[in-house]
Amino acid sequence: MKPSIVVVGSSNTDMVVKADYLPRPGETILGGTFIMNAGGKGANQAVAAARLGGNVTFVVKTGDDIFGQSAVKLFGAEGIDTSCAVADPTLPSGVALIAVDANGENSIVVASGANAALRPADLQNAAPKIEKAALLLVQLEIPLITVEYAINLAAKNKIKVVLNPAPALMLTDELLAKVSIITPNKTEAELLSGIKVTSLKTAELAAKAIAAKGVETVIVTLGAQGALVHHNNECKLYPAPLCKAVDTTAAGDVFNGALAVALSEGKEIAGAVTFACQAAALSVCKLGAQSSAPYRVELDAALMAAGVN
Ligand code: RIB
Repeated sequence: MKPSIVVVGSSNTDMVVKADYLPRPGETILGGTFIMNAGGKGANQAVAAARLGGNVTFVVKTGDDIFGQSAVKLFGAEGIDTSCAVADPTLPSGVALIAVDANGENSIVVASGANAALRPADLQNAAPKIEKAALLLVQLEIPLITVEYAINLAAKNKIKVVLNPAPALMLTDELLAKVSIITPNKTEAELLSGIKVTSLKTAELAAKAIAAKGVETVIVTLGAQGALVHHNNECKLYPAPLCKAVDTTAAGDVFNGALAVALSEGKEIAGAVTFACQAAALSVCKLGAQSSAPYRVELDAALMAAGVN
């Protein structure tokens, strides 16, 4: 049996429209065809990890409606263990409204629904799995109290914790000290460090400031520039493979899912980040969130073509 990855997080149904540009406040614009996709940061990361060969358990709360039911069915079809998924008949499943512009940039509004009701008590079945996992992967699209509960449980059992601090939220130093690897984007790094990230130099300063709070490894994801890694008191930029962006939605999620798989397979940070950067680059070539997550054969082929083995 492969080492297991437990993902605790959100599931949404994404309602996506592609347009020439993102509308300004008060503006109505005409976009392209409407597409409905499976999304949610937790679900995207779980699916990305499963497609890359991870042994994934996903802890999630949906409504007992058509969106939630079909999402959980899809997780099962991806080979994800859904025995810790909870369906609440009194709440709607999460939904995200997404606009994507001509450069693949997006803007997202989430109606959290049942995601906002995933409480520590809902993790009862998951607790023994977290305690024995190779790695816990969490984000911030569910209540912070639940994130804290899962991280505390993992830390108590010396389980590696990967925290993708998205969407951006202020976190205590006490919580950060229990995180093994944190993966903020520029905005999130800025909030956590108090340093405005406008360049590689400032990204490095922000990464150092976050590391000083007790996080072992800080990976600042910089989109097309790649990922800046602070590890063992050293900073290094891992450039992103070149690609023409169609949709950057979930690129960060694919990065995190891939990172989790590589670490669970025993890769060192350098190899894991290279693997994750390539996976994220493949995902931005396709529209959608889970629909854009690459399979292992595609990623292995891309890595081989890039001369990485
Ligand atoms: O990170 C991308 C995700 O953010 C989307 O799938 C959307 O559901 C929101 O959660």
